[in-house]
Amino acid sequence: MESWEEKYKKLKAEKIPPKRLEPEPLLRKALRGIKKGRAIDVGCGLGEDTHELSSNGWKIIGIDTSRKAVNLAKTLFPKKTKFEHASATQLPATNRSLDLVYDKECFVNLSSKDQKQYKNEIFRVLKPNGHYCIIFFEEPLVPKVQKVLRRMKKQKVWTRPNIEKFFGPKYTFKRTSSREAIVNKEKKVMTALLLEKL
Ligand SMILES: C[S@@+](CC[C@H](N)C(=O)[O-])C[C@H]1O[C@@H](n2cnc3c(N)ncnc32)[C@H](O)[C@@H]1O
Repeated sequence: MESWEEKYKKLKAEKIPPKRLEPEPLLRKALRGIKKGRAIDVGCGLGEDTHELSSNGWKIIGIDTSRKAVNLAKTLFPKKTKFEHASATQLPATNRSLDLVYDKECFVNLSSKDQKQYKNEIFRVLKPNGHYCIIFFEEPLVPKVQKVLRRMKKQKVWTRPNIEKFFGPKYTFKRTSSREAIVNKEKKVMTALLLEKL
């Protein structure tokens, strides 16, 4: 399977359509009413959500393991939006220093070993009452469909209930927002969950 780095290597900053650089529509809704502070956008890709949050008063850094993505993001957005090459499994932040860990479609794409390590990292870097905002394409809740998907993808199928179970009792679930999206002619549900560290 093509790696993220290979995918990003095919892109040229000047040829990326403006539509692709629009921020996630759920972002504002998901973070409504949350006090702005220090944040990290994990698996920031081209950096559109990092830039949106930075422009809205967050002190944020976007990180990605793809060097090409980080370089594209640095080219695409003004210097005051910060990007760095780093991994979800070793977040570049000190203990209890962040108010927000933001993640669109990164967690769900990691191996289960990395997901566990990332979970520990999120807990380590968040301040008490800090937030983890995860945005992902939610898989259908029908168990039969999930079973087929699990077999096809050979990985866990993520829905709101099993994210809740995975992050366990260390967080309260504050908010869920969702929107419909058409991906390759298929109707999918993009879901944003906001968790607060206890
Ligand atoms: C589906 S893309 C999402 C990109 C961006 N958040 C967006 O919504 O457009 C997943 C991103 O996670 C990055 N990634 C994969 N493994 C990672 C890791 N261990 N740490 C940080 N980023 C990672 C990939 O390079 C890729 O940019």
